[in-house]
Amino acid sequence: MPEVIKIEGGHTLEGEVTISSAKNATVALIPATVLAHGPVTIVGVPQIADVESLTKILNLLGVQVEERSSDHLIIDPTNIQNIDLVDDAVTKLRASYYFMGALLGRFGRVCMKMPGGCYLGPRPIDLHLKGFEALGAKVTYDKACYTIEAKELKGAKIFLDIASVGATINIMMAAVYAKGRTTIENAAKEPEIIDVATLLNKMGAHIRGAGTNVITIDGVDKLMGCFHEIIPDRIEAGTFLVIAAACAKKMVIKNIIPQHLDALTSKLQEMGVDMDIDVDRITIRHTDKLVATDVTTRPYPGFATDLQQPLTTLMTQAYGESKVVETIYIERFKHCGELQRMGANIEVSTGSASIKGPSSLFGTKVVATDLRCGAAMLVAGLLAEGITEIHDVYHIDRGYAEIDQKLKNLGAVIWRETIE
Ligand code: EPU
Repeated sequence: MPEVIKIEGGHTLEGEVTISSAKNATVALIPATVLAHGPVTIVGVPQIADVESLTKILNLLGVQVEERSSDHLIIDPTNIQNIDLVDDAVTKLRASYYFMGALLGRFGRVCMKMPGGCYLGPRPIDLHLKGFEALGAKVTYDKACYTIEAKELKGAKIFLDIASVGATINIMMAAVYAKGRTTIENAAKEPEIIDVATLLNKMGAHIRGAGTNVITIDGVDKLMGCFHEIIPDRIEAGTFLVIAAACAKKMVIKNIIPQHLDALTSKLQEMGVDMDIDVDRITIRHTDKLVATDVTTRPYPGFATDLQQPLTTLMTQAYGESKVVETIYIERFKHCGELQRMGANIEVSTGSASIKGPSSLFGTKVVATDLRCGAAMLVAGLLAEGITEIHDVYHIDRGYAEIDQKLKNLGAVIWRETIE
């Protein structure tokens, strides 16, 4: 039975929250383990629905997954079988496409359904496929399935037209066993890419330059198991920074890497948010008056597209006119329609939104149309007068670990109900 999240708004939050490990690293690290010829231990695995879907795919491949504790997985691909991935689990999330690069790298062949995930407008995977082709693979598409195969993968120089996170990671994984050297130019620089390269290097790969725009991969013969701890989730951390700025007296957000959040923290400071940034935590205190600001989303280290949605909710509370320009997914504005229904004053044009504030928000029925729209709705629900009822919460559960409990611990009044 589907669930809704209900929030009684208007309560002041206070306390500490510990951020979980990065969803967008985890969803690449898990598929990457199939490249190993031995058990890989991953620590800090967040309790999110995407991990369940990826574990199901591993099980289908005959990979053993042992859950040592709630956040500690031992993944053993020793008896892996490269079956066609046509199960519905593949379509539940976008990141299932990382099995393309990983299985192609390991077996020289992969056959899988089109991946799913949040609808943010068109999300092509042409750059992933071009990268595989550059390494010598042939790609065919039939009955909603991709088959990608190569007699032998050979290192190549690949220039990405767009610095795509997914294409960078997928090509990196496909290239670890390729003969010779692969160079990815105009590679994406997100911290999650460094985390995946770190895991692969611990397994025995030879990857240099992750985190810069040129990544070099020298093919090796065999990767082995290893131990890896996932980096903190900068998007979850950013979501809590926004929540704190919106409705906390004082909140300490722990287990974060502040540099990963520079683009957001400088915007929040521009808005007048009172914060102390420490080595692994940020403390936010209540501010009486927030002022409007403008953001333009950009690839890392620019302002993250995933954070513009929760930030839009905060902008409804700021004095003046704020503007969001979205350059990564120009249709990523569904949250604005939901916020308007709660009383926000927002005008959406192609690729941008103008927000006039401050507006009083009131609780009503809203939909989490995608994961970060869900985050925007949580912030709105905490601010609104009355009760906000969020539908399609499975989107939120795909990416935010134990969100209800974390908010309850801070004093939020939040609960779930099942609906027909
Ligand atoms: N693009 C192409 N062709 C491709 C690949 C990408 O045109 O082959 C375009 C996209 O349409 C987009 C831009 O390039 O306009 C950047 O897309 P990218 O490939 O970097 O995005 P992604 O890898 O599909 C990841 C995150 C997203 C996050 C984006 C941007 C994962 C699993 N997903 O997606 O996270 O918004 O990078 O930073 O890592 C989320 O967490 O809510 C989320 C959607």
